[in-house]
Amino acid sequence: MPLTSLIMASHHMKSTHFDNFDIDEAANHVARKIVSSDAEFEMRMKFHTCDIMEVKEKLGEYDCIFLAALVGMSKEEKVKILGHIRKYMKDGGVLLVRSANGARAFFYPIVEENELMEFEVLSIFHPTNDVINSVVLVRKPIF
Ligand SMILES: C[S@@+](CC[C@H](N)C(=O)[O-])C[C@H]1O[C@@H](n2cnc3c(N)ncnc32)[C@H](O)[C@@H]1O
Repeated sequence: MPLTSLIMASHHMKSTHFDNFDIDEAANHVARKIVSSDAEFEMRMKFHTCDIMEVKEKLGEYDCIFLAALVGMSKEEKVKILGHIRKYMKDGGVLLVRSANGARAFFYPIVEENELMEFEVLSIFHPTNDVINSVVLVRKPIF
C-alpha cells in the first residue's frame, strides 16, 4: 500500500504529483489498483518498477524524497542507498529517512546520525505512541 503518498496527497500536498519507485512489480500492481479507485489520485501518482539504485538523474527532479524503512535492510546496504540518493538528488532537496529507535529496531533498521554526515540534519523524531518508525529529515547542502 503506498501509504506515505496517499497520506501526503490527501492531507498535506493536495496538488503535488508523486512518483513511487518499488523494486517489486507485484507491489506496484496492487498500489496502482488501490489508487485507481480515485481518479484524482490516479492522475497524481505514478508507479515505477525498478531498484532505487538504478534511478539516477531522475532523482534530481524531486524537491522531496521519502525513503521507506525497508529499503536497505543491512547497515551497508542502507549507507550505499543513502549515498546514491545524495549523489543524484538536487542540491537543497529534502530527504525523509525512516528509522527506528530502541526495541523498535527489531522491526526496522536504525539510521544513525553519523550515516547522514554529508547531509544537513533538519529534524529527528522518535514517536512514543503506536507508530513504529522514527523520522529523520535531512537536506542536501547547497555548495
Ligand atoms: C514498507 S514498503 C513501502 C511502503 C509504502 N510504499 C510507503 O512508504 O507507504 C517497502 C517497499 O520497498 C521496496 N524495496 C525494497 N528495496 C528496494 C529497492 N532497492 N528499490 C526499490 N524498492 C525497494 C519493497 O519491495 C517494498 O515494497
